[in-house]
Formats: sequence, structure tokens, C-alpha cells
Amino acid sequence: MKTINTVAELRTTVARWRANGERVALVPTMGNLHAGHLQLVEQAKKNANRVIVSIFVNPMQFSNLNGDSGDFERYPRTFEDDCKKLSAIDYQPDIIFAPSVQAMYPAGFKRETRIEVPEISNILCGEFRPGHFVGVATVVAKLFNMAQPDVAVFGEKDFQQLLVIRRFVTDLCFPVEIIGMPTVREKNGLAMSSRNAYLSSEERERAATLYQTLQQAQQQIEAGERDFAMIQTQATAKLEKTGFRPEYFEIRRAQDLQAATDTDKQWVILAAAWLGEARLIDNIVMESPD
Ligand code: PAJ
Repeated sequence: MKTINTVAELRTTVARWRANGERVALVPTMGNLHAGHLQLVEQAKKNANRVIVSIFVNPMQFSNLNGDSGDFERYPRTFEDDCKKLSAIDYQPDIIFAPSVQAMYPAGFKRETRIEVPEISNILCGEFRPGHFVGVATVVAKLFNMAQPDVAVFGEKDFQQLLVIRRFVTDLCFPVEIIGMPTVREKNGLAMSSRNAYLSSEERERAATLYQTLQQAQQQIEAGERDFAMIQTQATAKLEKTGFRPEYFEIRRAQDLQAATDTDKQWVILAAAWLGEARLIDNIVMESPD
């Protein structure tokens, strides 16, 4: 396992692999790795001969592109620990790609070309974090061009992010296969996330209510309830009672996150809510029983 910091060195290494006919996988991350990230690395290894894990806290996706840097500064950076975790697993990646902000955005991210996926980027998380998905799509596209992977692995925990990435890959004809992986959870059901570091141990227990509330909504739908607005209102009230500050709790069509209807094949129940200092997101995808 080798750490590479420059685009030039990454390109040379990948070119050598490609000349040997090897298949390359990329797992983009912002570091502070947990078991959810490691699951993606394992999946990458199953799908390719060579695996690159990128670790880059992307300023563009924390910013509203008007100067406010949101929680970029305080995002947990644990590079040494991340390297230890990656070297301790059986399916070790070949390369950790950890570029500087300067290497990623030589002209400065506010002045560089951006990728905007319409509609889907401006709803749900996009409504509360304007510019966020432009930052995500742009950095992922840059990483694809830098690493030239055949396949890239992402988590379904960030369901909207996964759809945004699939959309621009299709629209802009990136020759990359996108694999989505199920959410890895703590024992109490809480979705693993780097942002859980902002929770106290008491809050970590309480945070499990987010997943439980999603599960209850799923059960209500499975039992035949179709008054989605009512389910959403009840769930929001429950979260507020537990001390969350919910941003949204929504039942949507899984394919494009538009309003759910009876003719959809798959639905997704998505929620974003603050608990203390942490903004938590989670979702459950379900087949429509009709
Ligand atoms: P980050 O939050 O570090 O997540 C990196 C990848 O790990 C994403 O694909 C995310 O969906 C996945 N992931 C996070 N928690 C998970 C969990 N509990 N189970 C399974 N997968 C999980 O998402 C980002 O970084 C960034 O937006 C990025 C795509 C790297 C672009 O900057």
C-alpha cells in the first residue's frame, strides 16, 4: 500500500496497470474511515485487480460557493489512523490517493468548472445545503479523470449523492461502472458516519431513533398505509420529541426522488436531522408492495 499525493504520480501508476490489462477500482472518501468505508474497499477488491482509495476533504462540497465554508474546517481529519485501518485489512488497497487542495483545485475551486446535475441536486439535502451536490459531482468527476477507474464504489447511506453520481456518469458518458453498497450500521442501528464523532455517548444511543423512525414508516407502508403526508408528519414529530431538529423526513420514488406514487416500483424513505452538533442522514429503500 502506497500513498500518492500528486496527480502526475497517480496517472503514471495507473497507466502502468492499464498497460498490463488490469482492472482498476476507485473508492472516493473524505477519510476518518469506519467499517462502512472498509466495506466499500472490500467490494472494490472483488471487482478489480487494483484498488485506489482517495482521501480528500473536499472544500467545494462544504461551501455554498459564496464564501461560507460550513463545517469544512472542523471535519475530522485522521490520516494516520486511516492508513493504519487500511493496512490492517485483508483486502488492502494498492494506493491511498491523498491530494492537497492545491493539487485538486489549482485555480481555486470557486473559479473552476463545475458539474451541476439539475433537479435532483436542489431537493432534500440539496435544499438545505445549496451547492453541496455541485461540489460532490465536480470532485468525483475530477477523481474519475485522475484515476481512470473501470469501477467506483459508493454507499447507499448517501442515497441522493449516489443518484447524482449515477446521473452525471450517464449524462456525460463517463466510462465508469458505479456500484452502490448497503449501509453499514452500529449495533443499535445508527448508520456509521464520520459525523457521529460529533455525538456524545448519550447522543449516540439516542441517535438510533432516526433509523427506528424510518423502520416504523416502512412498517406502516407495508401494512397498507398510503397517507404518506401523515406518516411524514408523525415521524417528524417523533424525532422532535427525541430531541432531533429534523430538516426533512420524506417518502419518495427511489429512481429519481420525485413524489412517491402508487405506480412506482421502489420507494425510498429519507431523513436528515440534527442531533446536538451532528447532522445525520439515513434512508431505507423498499419495494412497493402493490
Ligand atoms: P464520505 O462521507 O467519506 O463517504 C465515502 C463513501 O463511503 C461514500 O460513498 C459514502 O456513501 C460511503 N459511506 C459512508 N458511510 C457509510 C456507511 N455507514 N455504510 C456504507 N457506506 C458508507 O461521501 C463522501 O465522503 C464524499 O461526498 C465523496 C463521495 C468522497 C466526495 O467528496
